[in-house]
Amino acid sequence: MPSTPARKRVAVLISGRGSNMAALIEAAKNDTYPAEIVVVVSNDPTAKGLAYAATQGVPTAAVDHRSFGKNREAFERALQRELETHGIELICLAGFMRLLTPWFVRQWDGRMLNIHPALLPAFKGLDTHARAIAAGAKRHGATVHFVVPEMDAGPIIVQEAVPVLAGDTEAALAARVLEVEHRIYPLALKLVAEGRIRVEGGRCLIDGQPAPLIPR
Ligand code: GRF
Repeated sequence: MPSTPARKRVAVLISGRGSNMAALIEAAKNDTYPAEIVVVVSNDPTAKGLAYAATQGVPTAAVDHRSFGKNREAFERALQRELETHGIELICLAGFMRLLTPWFVRQWDGRMLNIHPALLPAFKGLDTHARAIAAGAKRHGATVHFVVPEMDAGPIIVQEAVPVLAGDTEAALAARVLEVEHRIYPLALKLVAEGRIRVEGGRCLIDGQPAPLIPR
């Protein structure tokens, strides 16, 4: 029988409710999924997602950034130790609200993913849904990308659009986007874990082809 390749060991980093983390845990319950969620780490010990991960039998850890004061590098070294302890190969940032230094990002070059609730490069940063509505955007969406030192930049792995409807509230648009997030994050992690993504000239190729926008 041909041996199946080992599943990639993934850490999910969160700061809050962890609904994207939950989607990744759910996907990884399937034995044929090429990645396993080995640990969920939060910079906030009270993050709701930690408690949920524990109910799913996923080990959790808190590396509280506040105990390191302004020393960002000491925080990141502690984080790095936690990841090494678990033999982590890939990181998924999922609502992780700390900016990471170039030192940390470089350790994980091409091995750290993030999800952003907008069609990057539009609407980097916070409050993306309110800003999309205020700008009169007709399309909005979500993006999974590799993390680079610049915030909300980096090669786009998967992106999916949703319409912005007349009369949309921020909450209504956020809910429409979140549904997309929960679908594309497991998809992007699968593609990376299977080694099907190559970065060329700052762009991701899937199976050697330019990554398409998944239209709606
Ligand atoms: C998501 O909208 C994600 O795109 C953004 O932060 C939010 C986290 O939500 N980076 P959750 O904690 O995954 O529910």
